[in-house]
Amino acid sequence: MRTDTGQIVHLADYRPTDFVLERVDLTFELDPTNTKVDARLIFHRREGVDLSAPLVLDGDELALSGLLFDQKDVPASQYDATPESLIIRDLPAEAPFEITITTHINPEANTQLMGLYRTNGIYCTQCEAEGFRRITYFPDRPDVLAPYTITIIGDKAANPVMLSNGNFLGGAGYDEGRAFAAWFDPHPKPSYLFALVAGDLAVVEDTFVTMSEREVTLKIYVEHGNESRTAYAMDALKRSMKWDEERFGREYDLDIFMIVAVSDFNMGAMENKGLNVFNDKYVLADPETATDQDYANIEAIIAHEYFHNWTGNRITCRDWFQLCLKEGLTVYRDHEFSADQRSRPVKRIAEVRHLRSDQFPEDGGPLAHPVRPTTYREINNFYTTTVYQKGSEVTGMIATLLGMDDFKAGMDLYFERHDGQAVTVEDYVKCFEDVSGRDLAQFSLWYSQAGTPLVNVSTEYDQTSATFKLSLEQMVPATPGQPDKQPMHIPLSFALILDNGAIADATSVKGGEVTGDVLHLTDRRQTFTFTGIASRPVLSLNRSFSAPVNIAFTQTPADLAHIARHDTDLFSRWQALTDLAIPNLTKAARDAREGHEVTCDPALIAALLEAAGDDTLEPAFRAQVLALPSEADIGRELGGNNDPEAIHTGRNAVLKLIADAGEDLFKRLFSDMKADSAYSPDAESAGKRALKAAALTYLAYAENSPQRAAEAFGAADNMTELSQALTLLAHRFPEASETTGALASFLTRFDANPLVIDKWFSLQATMPGEDALARVKALIDHPRYNAGNPNRVRALVGMYAFSNPTGFNRRDGEGYRFLAGQILEIDPKNPQLAARILTSMRSWRSLEPTRADQARDALMTIERSPSLSTDVRDIVERMLK
Ligand code: PHE
Ligand code: ZN
Repeated sequence: MRTDTGQIVHLADYRPTDFVLERVDLTFELDPTNTKVDARLIFHRREGVDLSAPLVLDGDELALSGLLFDQKDVPASQYDATPESLIIRDLPAEAPFEITITTHINPEANTQLMGLYRTNGIYCTQCEAEGFRRITYFPDRPDVLAPYTITIIGDKAANPVMLSNGNFLGGAGYDEGRAFAAWFDPHPKPSYLFALVAGDLAVVEDTFVTMSEREVTLKIYVEHGNESRTAYAMDALKRSMKWDEERFGREYDLDIFMIVAVSDFNMGAMENKGLNVFNDKYVLADPETATDQDYANIEAIIAHEYFHNWTGNRITCRDWFQLCLKEGLTVYRDHEFSADQRSRPVKRIAEVRHLRSDQFPEDGGPLAHPVRPTTYREINNFYTTTVYQKGSEVTGMIATLLGMDDFKAGMDLYFERHDGQAVTVEDYVKCFEDVSGRDLAQFSLWYSQAGTPLVNVSTEYDQTSATFKLSLEQMVPATPGQPDKQPMHIPLSFALILDNGAIADATSVKGGEVTGDVLHLTDRRQTFTFTGIASRPVLSLNRSFSAPVNIAFTQTPADLAHIARHDTDLFSRWQALTDLAIPNLTKAARDAREGHEVTCDPALIAALLEAAGDDTLEPAFRAQVLALPSEADIGRELGGNNDPEAIHTGRNAVLKLIADAGEDLFKRLFSDMKADSAYSPDAESAGKRALKAAALTYLAYAENSPQRAAEAFGAADNMTELSQALTLLAHRFPEASETTGALASFLTRFDANPLVIDKWFSLQATMPGEDALARVKALIDHPRYNAGNPNRVRALVGMYAFSNPTGFNRRDGEGYRFLAGQILEIDPKNPQLAARILTSMRSWRSLEPTRADQARDALMTIERSPSLSTDVRDIVERMLK
């Protein structure tokens, strides 16, 4: 492990390399513990660069075993090699020259899963962000682009498959027992997009004909036996390729597109040029082993990685500070794709839930940073929900501000102007300014100012003048390193809903810019005055969540119910019901904490049951309505001094009141939502299952018996319903014999399938209450647990820390101490994974003092450890600051 070097990188320090890389030619002689890498690199000195400037290449845990200049040995006096760098002096003034570097690396010993590593006997690489420098010395930064030629030599029997980026050049026997394969990628790319995969893999093949009628070969590589579980991923890939042509005019640009599924992977997937590498969790699916959520994730991630071919690969980032340029934009694109393939409002609700549960806490805590940070200590720690999800929201706001036509024109210009380049956020924004004529300088604060803006709202209606006044005030909270903030340009979609449910004509307005149904809030305080409004309207604001802000606006339950009934924007109807629920849930938490009886406003119950029972609404939407804000959501609303136990007790009591009041409806829904045909993962069928599961959950509260869930478990013919029933049993009836029996039978049935056993780990890790810790500790010793596999660790330890508020936040602090121990164990093997899981404690300051003290102590135990990785040290120090 590379322990902390403490170096901080600043955006302001950016400058181009002294030497221009023209071509890369790599030869790998594969060996599990001693792979030889020859890198032939052609460079020339950049015009105007001083003759004394040396060539500086990056390394990470490397040893140099050979160095040639134009095929001749380089004298020792001319270079310095350390594990972290190779510096070569006295290089030509202008003429191109060739450097050949030989290194030997040990894939088997590579437990961080960065660079070249082994997973279940397969050779695999991960180079983003700085993994390539673990393979050979290289200018390992995203603004160094070159075409690559790759030759792979390996044992023939062990490696029938040998893949790299680009198009296949050829392959054959090499010498006795060995084979070679050669690949050429004509599209200049940075090193982070390099990939190599070799081993004994099965392949499933298909084709896609592009808009200019070129036939592209599609291949998905998986471990033998998994071929039949690739159909959905292949289908999603073809739909993605088609959609990108139709919606963004983007065509695929190589003869072949490959996806490889591996079982050890730090992230979801990786967009290497023409050779995407996936966490197998996001490729493999069949009805027996994958849930509706798994299918939706696979569709979204296949699309995401494919879309990177244009937003990320053809146009890449100048430096890692620009990460949102490819990630935020590509998330925006995959969201749009899913919205088009499924239900747009339901997708939007899920996105906003995710944003609020992950990004808002990040933005409001010690790890807050701008969408485009200006400094980092460890780039791995900036693959955050802020860069991805808030980054996507920023692009969404550009679309809202400009309107779809100008947004489309701006994207077209971006693709045309910057194809083949490594660019910045400024370059991107400029394209939208150029096509629209709009100045986006103030809007660009979304890239540089961290923190979730708060918009205070007040309204006033005057009957005699038929005037409606809307006063808005924005406040951007202080975040680490940014005490003072400027007012932002916030696009707020709105509607004025009249008594009869119709939307008022609100075009006669003063006080600020309004385009279509979008208010432009640009000042700190601004009052919009609407005239010609004949009766008091109900304001629906931030419809479709047009801006990622918090809104403080006290609306009466009657007004919220009015929005929930009449808004034409389904997202806003859901939001209104959420706004109705929140005060009930926060009050319930307070009452539970003080030992008072928990109550619930009948108006909330009535509105929820009305929406849930409305057969004109799609079932997936009704399921979202019934899901209610989570315990974490309630904690965030409470804002501090939180007692997770009381939040849990209060919320459960409210659920019970809703369940009792709606028992008949839930019985009807439970039987109405039965599937009338075999399982299909389509959105409509998934929506029915989601509503059925919500009904089953409420019935468990109403009936207070495991009976119905146990029957559902027995009757389920697909993983969605099976795992839902099992989760309900375990979370509601942990002591019941039905639960013990179901947990055991699930394990026996899916023992051979690690991805399914992960579900079994997760649902136990998230069982509410103090006992969860003992269970998690016991499961760590389970033979199916594997501390070296990121999916296993995330399923058990990660889910416990991130998704079990009562089980993890024990008053005695044992949960935190356990996590600290785990972090210190994982860190030496896989720092990226350790740092990621540690972020689960980022909101520790919002806990009540007893728990907060325990949390701080546990964090300080980690901080005191002498040999932390840069990744963990960076996170723990920022959390304690
Ligand atoms: N670039 C990948 C994606 O979002 C994520 C990733 C980052 C994967 C770093 C591995 C390592 O598509
Ligand atoms: Zn991405």
